[in-house]
Amino acid sequence: MKEKYRAPKGFQDIIPPDSLAWQHIDDCARGTFHRYGYDEIRIPVVEHTEIFSRSIGESTDIVEKEMYTFEDRAGRSLTLRPEGTAPMVRCYIQHGLHTESSPQKYYYSGPMFRYERPQKGRFRQFYQIGAEAFGIDDPYIDAEMMSMIRDFLYCVGLGSLTYEVNSIGCVKCRPDYKKALHDHVYSRIDRYCDDCKRRYETNIMRVLDCKVPGCVEASGDAPLIRDFLCEGCKEHFNSFRDYLGLMGVEHSVNPRIVRGLDYYTRTIFEITTTELGSQNAVVAGGRYDKLVEDLGGPPVPGVGFALGMERLAELISGKMSNKMPVPDLFIICMNEDARKAGVAVAHELRERGLRCETNYTYASLSKQVKRADKAGARYVFVIGTDEVQRGIVKFKRLSDAKEGEIALDDHESMIKIISDNGS
Ligand code: HAM
Repeated sequence: MKEKYRAPKGFQDIIPPDSLAWQHIDDCARGTFHRYGYDEIRIPVVEHTEIFSRSIGESTDIVEKEMYTFEDRAGRSLTLRPEGTAPMVRCYIQHGLHTESSPQKYYYSGPMFRYERPQKGRFRQFYQIGAEAFGIDDPYIDAEMMSMIRDFLYCVGLGSLTYEVNSIGCVKCRPDYKKALHDHVYSRIDRYCDDCKRRYETNIMRVLDCKVPGCVEASGDAPLIRDFLCEGCKEHFNSFRDYLGLMGVEHSVNPRIVRGLDYYTRTIFEITTTELGSQNAVVAGGRYDKLVEDLGGPPVPGVGFALGMERLAELISGKMSNKMPVPDLFIICMNEDARKAGVAVAHELRERGLRCETNYTYASLSKQVKRADKAGARYVFVIGTDEVQRGIVKFKRLSDAKEGEIALDDHESMIKIISDNGS
């Protein structure tokens, strides 16, 4: 049957068993972030458009061409969030969280929206889990954050990804670098693509990020920010790397990473894989020491990251497909009276944490057992007229057909039998 409706382009459903990988990622994130002292914040999906244009930058790809912006019925310009950092900063300022003792460390998760050209690993609605730490400019926290990401990725089952770091300086040293880069690009502007010619005017550092072969070649010998860092930024970066070493976070410096959002200062990083084709970044982030102030808050530094759920889920999906949960038992009730007797059994066993399925139609016993077997149930419990009269339930272990009877109200024995794995 050909379906009449499909999800819009770039939007997707996550169905079992894929959703298992997502749950696993969620569990690892919550567990790991909790151990590092991060608490959850839930932010809205929609914000005032200005929050993004002022923070991500007017001349970035996201703000220029990727935002889902609309007017509400009162004529206000709203935008479906393309990322979570700016909303988190807005939330941080709005609730006066800076008045609490530093640092304030939070995580968030949920869908983000960017009108990008969909392809493998790139969607118009995609999920991020992110974390932000406010109030500390010591690079120790940047390194600790990467150590937290490393622990999280280990938990997920991804021990061998590439960790790349860089520093893009601060308001003091970056202008000199940008000038040098401008001069370099200008001297060979004809070799750059149209996008880069535009970036030359609006966002020069993004030229280094362009994947078009001609541009990569043209900027091959471009000046690098590391040669322009002021003493403070140099020290910050070196100390960050020393801490990474101390924490055992293996990494390399990639002086060409610049990131696609304007709010970064000093530390930036990307974690990539070779298994996903061109959309290879699974985690990315960095420091943003001016953003809270730029959005109207006090001068509070920040550092954070976000990970792409779809990309991580894709990397582990093969490992998860055999992990679909199976019922511990399947209760087969042969008629309405039996069902009435079975209700209490199912309720009690579920309360004790067992995954308990039951039948919703009264087919023959053999059909029901086949169904239970197909669902992967380890045990079937059968309740019919005879069992109700005798106050018992018959059980059968499907792996070896071991059978027996238990009193209908003897829930302890039921749990013992089911938990008694196989013997
Ligand atoms: P970002 O690099 O734009 O940074 O996104 C972070 C991650 O989200 C990417 O590395 C990628 O895994 C995933 N991602 C981005 N766009 C898409 C897409 N269209 N489809 C699928 N996955 C995608 C940020 O968003 C910053 N807010 C990170 C941050 C937090 N920096 C400081 N704090």
